[in-house]
Amino acid sequence: MESICDTVELNNGVRMPIYGLGTSGNKDQTVCNDTIKAAVEAGYRLIDTAQMYGNEVQVGKAIRQAGIAVEELFITSKVDNPNHGYEAASQAIDESLEKLGLDAIDLYLIHWPVVKGRGENWQEDNIETWRALEDAYEAGKIRAIGVSNFMVKHLKNLLANCRIKPMVNQIRLHPGVLQEETVAFCEKEQIIVEAWSPLSPIKQMSEDEKVKAMTEKYGKSVAQLLLRFSLQHNFVPLTKSAHPERVTENAEIFDFEISKEDMDYLNKLKFDDFEAPDVDIER
Ligand SMILES: NC(=O)c1ccc[n+]([C@@H]2O[C@H](COP(=O)([O-])OP(=O)(O)OC[C@H]3O[C@@H](n4cnc5c(N)ncnc54)[C@H](OP(=O)(O)O)[C@@H]3O)[C@@H](O)[C@H]2O)c1
Repeated sequence: MESICDTVELNNGVRMPIYGLGTSGNKDQTVCNDTIKAAVEAGYRLIDTAQMYGNEVQVGKAIRQAGIAVEELFITSKVDNPNHGYEAASQAIDESLEKLGLDAIDLYLIHWPVVKGRGENWQEDNIETWRALEDAYEAGKIRAIGVSNFMVKHLKNLLANCRIKPMVNQIRLHPGVLQEETVAFCEKEQIIVEAWSPLSPIKQMSEDEKVKAMTEKYGKSVAQLLLRFSLQHNFVPLTKSAHPERVTENAEIFDFEISKEDMDYLNKLKFDDFEAPDVDIER
């Protein structure tokens, strides 16, 4: 956690950067180009996209003009919900490879555990979808495989029925939504946890007097505090901005440490507006 260049070892030996750029909502090519270029200049190496974001083509183009060899980057994508099942997921992986313009994707995830029309059979559905990821992994199309929004019961189902253990679980995590049970289970199973939407409570926290005092004490913005908070939990935070200057600001989180007392305060914050998503609702 000393530098943006630090990496964490996944359970298959692949090393993944400890911090990443999200891209959801960024479909415009110029926005993708400018933010990914700013990210690379600031030291980000992990770029997170998904079929669902409709921007794999744009991200693929943007990483080629970012001033770095594509092999230096760690690219993640995810199978979209309508593409569950062995055949559709296998095809989805090939489509992602083509859209991104890559020979192999560094990390590919099942985006959501319970999807429309297959909710009653989510156990079998995830096993079949996972088999497509396992086969693509063994064929060298993907360097690491994982899941997203999987709670303990979804993980247990997969672990009991897989050939290859998931390496990553990407879930919503920030003050007020700490998903302790899932995080502890992942830690026990050597599944690295990525944090999506780590900046969610930025507005609410900006109005909190103690947080305001922390921004002065550390000389950091609320966004930087939130991202550092995530790193100090050993999550891999993924954060998105459509503005290059914010992408740069969000990377300046490796030169300070939030004290234990302040972490305790942030850990206890609760917000009415946020809760972990109900992943059992079919999407
Ligand atoms: N697996 C999943 O189901 C899932 C779900 C959601 C997200 N994700 C991934 O996680 C990534 C991050 O999540 P997210 O995009 O929802 O949320 P986020 O990164 O927590 O927050 C993004 C929001 O914060 C604003 N922002 C960014 N930097 C800021 C700064 N320094 N100061 C003030 N505001 C700032 C952005 O506005 P501007 O863009 O206007 O700067 C945007 O509105 C996504 O892009 C995606 O890759 C995954």
